[in-house]
Amino acid sequence: TAAEKDGYDWFMRKEIFEQPKAISDTLLGRYSPQGELTLDEIHISPETLRRVNKIIILGCGTAHYAGMVAKYAIEHWVRIPCEVELASEFRYRDPIVDSQTLCVAISQSGETADTLQAIRHAREQGAKVIAICNTNGSTIPRESDAVIYTYAGPEIGVASTKGFTTQLIACYLLGLYLAQVRGMKFGDEIRTIMDELEAMPAKMQSVLDHADQIYTLAKGMEDEEDFIFIGRHVGYPIALEGALKLKEIAYLHAEGFAAGELKHGPIAIINPGMPVFAVVPPQGRDQLHDKVVSNIQEVRARGARTIAVAEQDDNEVDQFAEVVISLPKVSTLLQPVLAVVPLQLFACEIATLLGNDVDQPRNLAKSVTVE
Ligand code: G6P
Repeated sequence: TAAEKDGYDWFMRKEIFEQPKAISDTLLGRYSPQGELTLDEIHISPETLRRVNKIIILGCGTAHYAGMVAKYAIEHWVRIPCEVELASEFRYRDPIVDSQTLCVAISQSGETADTLQAIRHAREQGAKVIAICNTNGSTIPRESDAVIYTYAGPEIGVASTKGFTTQLIACYLLGLYLAQVRGMKFGDEIRTIMDELEAMPAKMQSVLDHADQIYTLAKGMEDEEDFIFIGRHVGYPIALEGALKLKEIAYLHAEGFAAGELKHGPIAIINPGMPVFAVVPPQGRDQLHDKVVSNIQEVRARGARTIAVAEQDDNEVDQFAEVVISLPKVSTLLQPVLAVVPLQLFACEIATLLGNDVDQPRNLAKSVTVE
């Protein structure tokens, strides 16, 4: 009913705007004033976690993209090799898994059959499984050795939004927790990152406060047939997620590419006027930023309409992108939490302009309980 939607036209839009709260709820109580991280329901001993020599992150759809972001953070902070795989692919390829493998299963609903089958298979081989899940008592956490709950609250819109950003938060918490347990990061280092995470809800709110800019951008773009999203590093999964949102609810052809791959094929499909969204990393970190700015110039030279999601006051991007959507300053690894928001708003607005049922898109189910 309208009342449940709190005045919003769609649950999805309401859920996009609930994200600052969902994130702060997910962070709540996990970090003590003494500087120690504690996660709920981790029934895996510190010794076992110290012996882990490989992490495999599993999920489907949006959850898989959260896992892709997690790989960058976990490998950087914890220095354990980390694979990310679609649950449906992992299960049927004879993966190398043993008792020193830690599987991380990401699932909003906790009922996705592909993910469930994957963890059953991993546990049969002796792996330990940590679930990142939004649904208390659902099957995937019940069949796991440990759970980190996200506190997004019920997600009704089929296309995941607050489910995704809280999964990102849980992945960062897991990375920091593993670093703490393995004695690789302590007090001050963890505190710096936790401080940044705790500042995230307010930063996200300021992105949401500028939603009108996205709605104005969307107007007229619903007639486009193809959309391209590009990104590098943690911006790459965000490009994939931006494209997925458009496919799911707008039924439009949208593709995400690693920006560095453009020249190896995808740039050939750029037509004059084609919208290309670029997720631009914060300025001044090991060339990443400048590389994406060059990619923007490359597609622009082929006539693309360039829309950059970039850090505020990024004057290089201002010169080359036709439209710039500004994000508050944040470190590279954490930027996905903010960068995805304009892309969610954009997809929601395009689907609304097209007259689609945003909350119940055709052919999709909120939770896919068949393989
Ligand atoms: C379905 C939904 C997606 C979701 C995926 C994984 O396909 O339509 O939005 O990302 O399942 O769901 P889960 O509940 O496992 O996170």
